[in-house]
Order: sequence, then structure tokens, then C-alpha cells
Amino acid sequence: MYQHLLTEIAENILTITINRPEKLNALNKEVITELGLALAEVYTNPEVKAAIITGAGAKAFVAGADISEFVALDASAGAALAQRGQDLVFSTIENSPKPIVAAVNGFALGGGCELAMACHFRLASDNAKFGQPEVNLGLIPGYGGTQRLVQLIGKGKAMELLMTGNMINAAEAQQLGLVNHVTTPEDLLSQTKALLQTIIAKAPLAISRIIDLVNTASFAPEEGLAKEVTLFGELFDTADAKEGATAFLEKRKAQFSGH
Ligand code: COA
Repeated sequence: MYQHLLTEIAENILTITINRPEKLNALNKEVITELGLALAEVYTNPEVKAAIITGAGAKAFVAGADISEFVALDASAGAALAQRGQDLVFSTIENSPKPIVAAVNGFALGGGCELAMACHFRLASDNAKFGQPEVNLGLIPGYGGTQRLVQLIGKGKAMELLMTGNMINAAEAQQLGLVNHVTTPEDLLSQTKALLQTIIAKAPLAISRIIDLVNTASFAPEEGLAKEVTLFGELFDTADAKEGATAFLEKRKAQFSGH
């Protein structure tokens, strides 16, 4: 049914595996569309009581938005890309009445880190790496990263990760509160499923209220998300964003001019 996703329902848990391992599961337009469809199933299929999002292969959860799609973008197309992803996928995950958990099995960079952060909580394998490296491309996160990273790890650490673009490992991510549990790669899915079985044995209406209320207790990022879409888009009109994406695709270091 899907070109870039594997889906499986077992014991009332829908496992959604992003399956583009040759591109480290980067989120292109089709992946976003398909994730939107899979998430609709979480909302509507009564057999599904919870979902897991993970990545195919041993190397990556998701290495970000697909940078090859960035080269042609201007401000309005850039903002449209961010808004579409936020609406179809990222906010849909966050607001799901059923629990959606990320099983982070490798690189979770840029849109991958944002995807994990949109989930209700995260488990990671001990080889996972997290980061928001958009700044290396002359860009910023566009799928909620500037808002949710602050919520999860606090202002100072978020500022550092966003401005350096540095990666952190699973142990550091756990120490910062970005992930709840770290496992071996072999145990990641079974431990995630075991935790979700505990949750889905509880009353579903109580679980959905908990999700709603915890989302309400964290500061409402609607204004921040909207501002992020606009500013993410605007950066595509800069020479540095063009240079950043081109340099990545040409496998060289970007030379930024400040314009
Ligand atoms: N968008 C598009 N393609 C991507 C990608 C992305 N975000 N991340 C990786 N790929 C592609 C690479 O271009 C390469 O494709 P190729 O084999 O056709 O050349 C393939 O996936 C494998 O990646 P590669 O870079 O060769 O692996 P590596 O082990 O040397 O490095 C990373 C791994 C994650 C450090 C590196 O791929 C990377 O920095 N990716 C981009 C991360 C990023 O900036 N994300 C934020 C985007 S907004």
C-alpha cells in the first residue's frame, strides 16, 4: 500500500517504519503524505490502540527533511513545505488521542529529531544520535524543533544545540530528558511495545485526556510554530540557504556569506 513506509498491526499496536534506508529515511514529500495517511489510521482504526514510529535499517531513524528538495525552494514554497508537514504529520502526532511513541534506532537529525519530539515520548537505541543541524545549511528547523526542543530540554541547552548544530548521543539525550529509556538496538522495539502494552491496558478515555492535558500544561507553541513556518520559509530566499543545500549535495563544506 505504501511506497516508503512499512506498517504492521500486532497486539493493537501499529508500527510505522519509515523505509528509505538508502537515503537514511529522509522525509521527502511522499513520506510526509504517507505518514499523514498512516496517522489517519491511528485516529480511525479501532483495532489500533497505540502507534510506534521507527526507521528502517540499522543506521538511521530519520536523517532529516530531504535536502535535495530544498534547492528549488523560495520563501513561499519553503513556508508551504513546513506548514504542510506540521499539519499533516507533526501536530497530528502531538494531538493524537492514542499514544504515539518514537523508537529512535539511529540518526534522528533535523526533521528526524523533530519527528521524535512530536511523539508523546521517546525510547532510543544506544547507537542513536540526535541533533538539529539545519544551521549548517543556513536554515532553521521548520517542523516544530525550535518550540518542542525548548519544552523538552530547556532554553539554554536548546539554544546550544540549535546554534551549534552539534549531535548528542543517546546517553546525553537521556540525561537531558529528550529520551525516556535507552536500550540495545535489538531490544528497542520489544521494550517500546512492552511499555505501550502497559499503557493500552488502561482506560483509553483516561489516556486520551492525559495526552490532551499534558499537551495543555506544556506552554502552547501555536504562535511559535506559526512564526517558525514564516522564518523557515524566508531563509530560502537567502544566498546562504542555497549554498548550504548545494554544498551538502556536492559533499563539501558550505561557505556562508551572511546574505
Ligand atoms: N536529505 C537527503 N539526503 C540525505 C539526507 C537528507 N537529510 N541525509 C542523508 N542523505 C543521503 C546522502 O546524501 C547519501 O545519499 P547518496 O548515497 O545518494 O550520496 C545517503 O543518504 C547516505 O548518507 P551519507 O551522508 O553518505 O552517510 P554518512 O554516514 O556519511 O553521514 C549523516 C550520515 C547523517 C551525518 C549525513 O548523511 C548527514 O549529515 N545528513 C544530513 C543531516 C541534516 O542536515 N539533516 C537536516 C536536514 S534539514
